[in-house]
Amino acid sequence: MKLFDPHGFGSSVVSYAGLLEKIEILRSTLRWAPRLERTDIEKLLNQSNALREEVMQLSRKERFVEAAAEAPEALDALARPDAITPAAHRRREALIERSFIFEGIFGDNPKLLAALEIAEKAAPTDLPVLIDGESGTGKELMAKVIHANGARADRPYISVNCGAIPENLLESELFGHRRGAFTGASSDRKGKFESAHTGTIFLDEIGELPLQGQVKLLRVLEAHEIQRVGSDEPIGVDTRIVAATNRNLRELAAQGQFREDLFYRLSVIHVTLPALRERNDEIPLLIAYFGDEAAAQLKRRPLKLTPKLRDFLLTYAYPGNIRELRNLVYRLSCLAGETADIEHLPDDIRPKSAALALRAVEAEAAGAPLSLSDAKRAASDEAERAFLERGLQETGGTVAELARRCDMNRSHLQMLLKKHGIHSKDFRHAEKVNHEKGS
Ligand SMILES: Nc1ncnc2c1ncn2[C@@H]1O[C@H](COP(=O)(O)OP(=O)(O)OP(=O)(O)O)[C@@H](O)[C@H]1O
Ligand SMILES: [Mg+2]
Repeated sequence: MKLFDPHGFGSSVVSYAGLLEKIEILRSTLRWAPRLERTDIEKLLNQSNALREEVMQLSRKERFVEAAAEAPEALDALARPDAITPAAHRRREALIERSFIFEGIFGDNPKLLAALEIAEKAAPTDLPVLIDGESGTGKELMAKVIHANGARADRPYISVNCGAIPENLLESELFGHRRGAFTGASSDRKGKFESAHTGTIFLDEIGELPLQGQVKLLRVLEAHEIQRVGSDEPIGVDTRIVAATNRNLRELAAQGQFREDLFYRLSVIHVTLPALRERNDEIPLLIAYFGDEAAAQLKRRPLKLTPKLRDFLLTYAYPGNIRELRNLVYRLSCLAGETADIEHLPDDIRPKSAALALRAVEAEAAGAPLSLSDAKRAASDEAERAFLERGLQETGGTVAELARRCDMNRSHLQMLLKKHGIHSKDFRHAEKVNHEKGS
């Protein structure tokens, strides 16, 4: 069911009106009931919880659409010149206008938009979809997008993590079992495929499915029926399959670890999600978006970032992709006061010089003397960093010019900049802004 239509006031009112009507029905049930049995109370409670969830979803979607519309302004504070192109913005707006449900997927990167456009076309069909991409790139969100935009949106959505089920339970988990089929099978049990009947089954981490499970899955895809473990009776299932993996299934197939025929069956539609480093122009936008989200959730004012931390966040490699970025922003919002700085980063990713300097400050505060070599290294790193930043400021971010002025080898200078996570182009932009302000 599409609750929220961002087209305009009228359709949004219909969504809220629908919810109000449901609330009214609940209220009058309560008002006119002569007495309520325990089971009735439980039923009403469940209905009211479901309503609360619907209201939350509606407001999340509304917030998302608002944020999407405001994105270019939100960027101003953190802007980089290459961040958003009008063409990309128009593509996203076109999706919004077609009432596409994003399920919280945020961004304007052309590769991401291409993936969303494929999802939009694939969603109304029953064709299997394979989603791949590194960990934390939004594969699970994308599976929900495909379900939510399709004709089965009001039907069950069942998610199975193929990597988390022990091999001996796999068949029973997916296809169910008859009572007595094996020790411990004390009653008949439905499997995930039956539960997903008429809806969508999301087979996450499909690359982890053992070969034996792959054979069984192939049969379901071909015959559209399953057999519970311990039963000969075939049961028809009408289930749309969406699978995801962070592994290269084609390569696994070439190595004989994944059945090639299953790969082709699953990947009729193939969607690849870009890693965050392929869309790092969007990091400012995502920081702003998750910053607002964290502020709302933690009931606090949106976080401010020191320039050093901002530089770090814009240039960090994010091996955990958007999940890592989102978690970082939440962490910073929780641990920092008004303004977050490098010191609020987790130890394992904090730049070395800052970590040493911080250790020096902490040790000093605790009255414990630092080792002399640590203290020297921290001071020298800090001095080096300050020197490089001042130099880039003065040369408007031109590394070659700085190398010339300091009589240094350019590649050695590049290496030092890398070590400190300093990006010369940030200084080019700063200078341009200062220049524009001055003119
Ligand atoms: N484009 C996006 N916009 C907003 N949030 C996103 C986006 N992509 C991912 N996220 C957020 O990042 C987190 C990880 O997303 P998700 O679980 O879908 O990734 P995944 O690819 O399935 O990861 P894994 O391979 O580790 O299972 C979630 O909190 C999700 O909300
Ligand atoms: Mg996942």
